[in-house]
Amino acid sequence: MKRARIIGLGHYVPPKVVTNEDLAKVMDTSDAWIRERTGIQKRHFVEDGMGTADLAFEATKKALQDSKKEAKEIDFIILATLSPDYFFPGSGVLLQEKLGIDSIGALDIRTQCTGFIYGLSIADTMIRAGQYERVLLVGSEVHSTALDLSTRGRDVAVLFGDGAGAALLEATEGDQGVLSTHLHAEGRYAKELWVEAPGSLNPVPILNLEECRHFPKMNGREVFKHAVTRFIKVIQEALEANHVTKEEMDLLVVHQANLRIAEAVREYLRLPPEKMYNNIQRYGNTTAASIPMALSEAKAEGKLKEGDLVCLAAFGSGFTWGSALIRW
Ligand code: UT7
Repeated sequence: MKRARIIGLGHYVPPKVVTNEDLAKVMDTSDAWIRERTGIQKRHFVEDGMGTADLAFEATKKALQDSKKEAKEIDFIILATLSPDYFFPGSGVLLQEKLGIDSIGALDIRTQCTGFIYGLSIADTMIRAGQYERVLLVGSEVHSTALDLSTRGRDVAVLFGDGAGAALLEATEGDQGVLSTHLHAEGRYAKELWVEAPGSLNPVPILNLEECRHFPKMNGREVFKHAVTRFIKVIQEALEANHVTKEEMDLLVVHQANLRIAEAVREYLRLPPEKMYNNIQRYGNTTAASIPMALSEAKAEGKLKEGDLVCLAAFGSGFTWGSALIRW
């Protein structure tokens, strides 16, 4: 049976490092508060003129190198982001242009923190159907240019960072690859974590910038509670669908929203620390980019070996959440 297999990974963060102490200079926060509540020590921010497609391009070059493939061998592009370069068109076509590959399809996904899992599901389905041989899947985010970097926005602003992660997927007939994906959404929670404007209901001409509706807003405690329970459920869903136990899982990579959330999930599942990979300490929450960035680093550190059973899970704005089980 055909399925998609990740044959190359790459990640990229812009050079500028922003520490917790740097944030404490522009808002009422502290290194101690941020570390204790989130585990984050630093994040990367772009300099002026660098956009989401630029980060995606850098990560893609590394994924192509890792897979020993060339851009022209890609049949389709999927780019997940909540921070596109423009309102439209999406950043997928911009990435296509940078890669110099004409006229292949390019799809943007807007399911926020769950974007990589949704993209993986779509790519796998396309490959299983025989539509494409090779699909490029990228999560890329520039948060820094749209955060309220003042005390008013500190609950959200200290969490996020910029970065991109890319995966090249290829059709395989063997035992390796994506075993299953599980996607969920519940729109009644849309306003628990959102950017309200600008949008079709609140277009720029009527927008009062002093109301700050253009900055991300989050009901942190509510999102935290839902995140922990839904992460656990959707991981269990993936394991049950494949008739495997959590003990058989070699590595769990959850969307890097908060180290406390990841640890709560790991402790509930009674997994030893070495079975979970986290890098939020260095990058903050990079939403759609966080899972491919973590996979790329885990691979580079030798923590992903052929035959490993790897579970991915994400939860975030929408609410959207999902999981994937992969035989590496
Ligand atoms: O990726 C998408 C999914 N996102 C998430 O999963 C995030 C989920 N939520 C969280 O991670 C946590 O709720 C936060 C890290 C955002 C906040 O942690 P918390 O332990 O829930 O803190 P809190 O919101 O209950 O705030 C505690 C206190 C408040 O002060 P009072 O009311 O107790 O006086 C806040 O005003 O901390 C204050 N506070 C801050 N203090 C210093 C909020 N943000 C900050 C800050 N620095 N940056």
